[in-house]
Amino acid sequence: MDIFCKLHLFILSNIFIFEYSTCTKDFPPLKNDNLLRAARGEPVDRVPVWVMRQAGRYLPEFQEVRKQHDFFTVCRTPELACEVTMQPLRRFDLDASIIFSDILVIPQAFGMTVEMHAGVGPVFPEPLQTPADLSKLKPEGAVDRLSYVGDAITMMRHLLDGRVPLIGFTGAPWTLMGYMIEGGGSKTMSKAKAWLTDYPEDTKKLLTMLTTAIVDYLEMQVKAGAQLLQVFESSAEHLTKEDFLNIAVPYIKDIHDKLTQRLTSQSIPLVPMTLFAKGAGHSLKEQAALGYDIIGLDWTVDPEEARKEVGPNITLQGNLDPQDMYKTPEEIRSLVTDMVRKFGKTRYIANLGHGITPQTPIVSMEVLVDAVHKAL
Ligand code: CP3
Repeated sequence: MDIFCKLHLFILSNIFIFEYSTCTKDFPPLKNDNLLRAARGEPVDRVPVWVMRQAGRYLPEFQEVRKQHDFFTVCRTPELACEVTMQPLRRFDLDASIIFSDILVIPQAFGMTVEMHAGVGPVFPEPLQTPADLSKLKPEGAVDRLSYVGDAITMMRHLLDGRVPLIGFTGAPWTLMGYMIEGGGSKTMSKAKAWLTDYPEDTKKLLTMLTTAIVDYLEMQVKAGAQLLQVFESSAEHLTKEDFLNIAVPYIKDIHDKLTQRLTSQSIPLVPMTLFAKGAGHSLKEQAALGYDIIGLDWTVDPEEARKEVGPNITLQGNLDPQDMYKTPEEIRSLVTDMVRKFGKTRYIANLGHGITPQTPIVSMEVLVDAVHKAL
């Protein structure tokens, strides 16, 4: 090889190393990869289990942190976010961690004020009232204002030292739009639903704006070290099947397709993606066709029926009723064992059918995790 050829190769390999190192980081090797294997349909040593809101108010140590720090301060401070992300892993033999944050950090990054009120939940003092309010949103640069989430993810990957995979997440467009218009949680979503019929074009504009930000946000999370991504469409439960399919689903599909394309074009390995559309058990076949690897189920769905609907090539996640966690340890063990046996050992991730609630006894979590691991 002549000297010019060698030089050329040297420069090329360095460009490659430079490009590679800008989009991937050196993290400790994964010791427990059951979650990722379940996501890919590979054999597992044991059924993986994690719990939505596993870092939350049922843990006294979480309450302690929250006594000292406002909710969004915890989200925005990587050391605090990592501390609470780690809390459930210190107590339970979980197979995944999920970065501590909230779906509402996107509306915040658009310039909206979001407060977390004790006993109430999230409050937007100035929700979107009419389409004219869309011009107040600042989607440009939103992902840069969310860099603290990426910092927390990278820090957490190092702290985990390969113990279990780290999950990143986002809210889906319809769910975020709902909070932005309702100004908080809502039993009826009446204002957000009125937008669908009164302002269809502005609805599309808002959902598209959110989709663009979500794709940027998830790309950033993968680059920071997220090993699986979950998209929460928690407010799907408010939509008819027709509205879910026509209004929510196209954007959910776009998120998957655009992110896949974005990562592929930069030669960044794809990570498995979960769609959790609460209350959309009516459309499992349609959800299975969107390209997501994992479909999250709420507790209203029967495991065996869900499997028939989605076919053999999708991983299912769920779906114990969070209220079952208030039953006796014996009852919980029996319900969990039944659930895991119905789902089976392949392509299954055990979880609740929604977030764990604040009064849940710690022992219920211990029993849940142990019963999942011993069921098969
Ligand atoms: O799962 C985890 O451990 C990661 C952390 C996480 C939180 N919120 C922390 C949180 C995740 C994944 C979320 C997602 C989220 N946030 C969703 C989708 C999942 C779902 O529950 O449907 C939604 C709709 C939100 C918005 C939100 N944040 C609501 C409606 C509330 C209040 C409801 C409640 O449980 O009080 C929150 C607050 C919130 N987010 C808490 C936690 C631990 C509790 C608030 C506190 O500490 O004061």
